[in-house]
Amino acid sequence: PRYWALIPCAGSGARAGADGPKQYQALAGRPLVAHTLAAFAATPGLAGILVVVAPGDTTLEAQGLAEAVHVADCGGASRAASVSAGLAVLHTLGAQPQDWVLVHDAARCLITPAQIQRLMAACADDAVGGLLAQPLADTLKVGAEGRVSATLERGDKWLAQTPQMFRLAPLQQALQASGPTVTDEASAIEAQGQRPRLVAPEGANFKVTYPDDFALAEAVLKARLA
Ligand code: C5P
Repeated sequence: PRYWALIPCAGSGARAGADGPKQYQALAGRPLVAHTLAAFAATPGLAGILVVVAPGDTTLEAQGLAEAVHVADCGGASRAASVSAGLAVLHTLGAQPQDWVLVHDAARCLITPAQIQRLMAACADDAVGGLLAQPLADTLKVGAEGRVSATLERGDKWLAQTPQMFRLAPLQQALQASGPTVTDEASAIEAQGQRPRLVAPEGANFKVTYPDDFALAEAVLKARLA
């Protein structure tokens, strides 16, 4: 099977507090998503990279970021809808039902080729697939009406990241069955009774979400260059 990258890039970035979608905000001198795309472009073994943007969004072309990637402006109202639309486009690019698809948030711009390859290597012979995920460092509280109602044991908890790597046809079927509200691919696969493999990223791979995350991400990029 071949390996494809699918990068949903059609969000509004409402929590980032910036003007316009966060994936296009400047980060270390380039649009945030340019860092994400550079990591995938530098990863050996990918058959193609497809970026899903919002209908009519021509930012990638305008910024000269569309050269090494395919762009489809078929983004939907939810992340899952954008991913499902992108999976349909992968077929038109020649992807086969058993090919692997690595779905990665555009906003997770600290991803490195080494992290991507670690996931690919860990899942290549796996019957299900898997995802990068970070063991939880903090204690986890359940809240109700602004007060703690329970504390959860953290030893078995992981924060789901991306890429999330599954085979094209089973992923399409799982997302179709789960509907547009699932927040990651793994939950759709889990709902089919499967257990995706958890792979630690070994290095930062957080999603730029809140205003302070831009400065944090810039600091990580700078430290990696030092
Ligand atoms: O909103 P959230 O941070 O979970 O989004 C994760 C990724 O999914 C982002 O890269 C965002 O651009 C993308 N997304 C999308 N279509 C949507 C919502 C989010 O492609 N409707």
